[in-house]
Amino acid sequence: MPLHDPKYNKNCQIFAISSVKVLISTGLLVLFMMCAAPLRAHLGTTPNIKHIVMGRCFNYVTLVNPGGRFDCEEIWRAFEEAVLRQASCEVAAEHYRRMFRAMPQTGTCDRFLLWSKTRKLIQDYAAVARHLWTLEDTLAGYMFNDLIWCSQQEDSDFDFGSCPEWSACLHHPVHSLWRQASKNFAEMACGNVTVLLNGSIEKAFNRNSMFGSVELDNLNPQRVNYVNIKVVSNLDGPFIESCGRGSIADLIHILQARGFRWTCSDNDRILTMLQCVHKPEHRACRTCADAHPVN
Ligand SMILES: *[C@@H]1O[C@H](CO)[C@@H](O)[C@H](O)[C@H]1NC(C)=O
Ligand SMILES: *[C@@H]1O[C@H](CO)[C@@H](O)[C@H](O)[C@H]1NC(C)=O
Repeated sequence: MPLHDPKYNKNCQIFAISSVKVLISTGLLVLFMMCAAPLRAHLGTTPNIKHIVMGRCFNYVTLVNPGGRFDCEEIWRAFEEAVLRQASCEVAAEHYRRMFRAMPQTGTCDRFLLWSKTRKLIQDYAAVARHLWTLEDTLAGYMFNDLIWCSQQEDSDFDFGSCPEWSACLHHPVHSLWRQASKNFAEMACGNVTVLLNGSIEKAFNRNSMFGSVELDNLNPQRVNYVNIKVVSNLDGPFIESCGRGSIADLIHILQARGFRWTCSDNDRILTMLQCVHKPEHRACRTCADAHPVN
């Protein structure tokens, strides 16, 4: 997800950083102009997108998940058909129907992992909890992770100059693809499903996130045995939300109302240890051995 969380706005940061640079180098006038048209000038389609997407596809079908019968060329053609010659804000999720039909997948029950606003941690977690399956492990998620794309109505190629902010669009080509991929992924989920949420932010469960607006509604209580929520906060806090507090309580209400069984934990040891790998000196990472050093 990658970029798959609509509220995850990498581009705002880039904008902020570049604003500072501009301020320093060219003075206030340019900053004023940028602010007058905020977020308009924007990153375009990821350069070399075709090579990246095709390379990832061949890598996936050959090395990551061999045995799947996928036609990477056909998937690329369906992707182009969905995006090219379309206005950049008018690519709906349905445009990708043919592409997703070319990449049917089923996951193994009890292994589905959904997450929101825990992007950095999820990469470490997925690396150690190899049995868990995230959207980024599906062919579609794997192929399109972190990429940007759009076209123009009058263009038979991608727009490498600039693409709109996805909050500015009803049907943003990138957002629409992730919506559809997230929907497929959630519909497929079965057995125990793990949900990883960020306890260091307000609205750890956000109805506008991809999890809150797409995945949750497409989980099927008939297929899902338990929804196991894990709330994880930064080692240094802030400690804003936890099981039963804040928006997590809302999530639990929704799950109950829809007939799901659920559990919730806010001190998962593995998740703490993963954070400790990056900050071994942190006091939350001290072990008994540190307290009683053997000389
Ligand atoms: C929680 O969200 C904040 C803000 O986006 C982020 O900096 C932090 O890494 C996240 N924490 C975890 C544990 O994912
Ligand atoms: C599913 O989750 C429940 C509740 O956490 C747990 O008791 C059960 O052992 C889990 N089953 C599997 C197959 O992981």
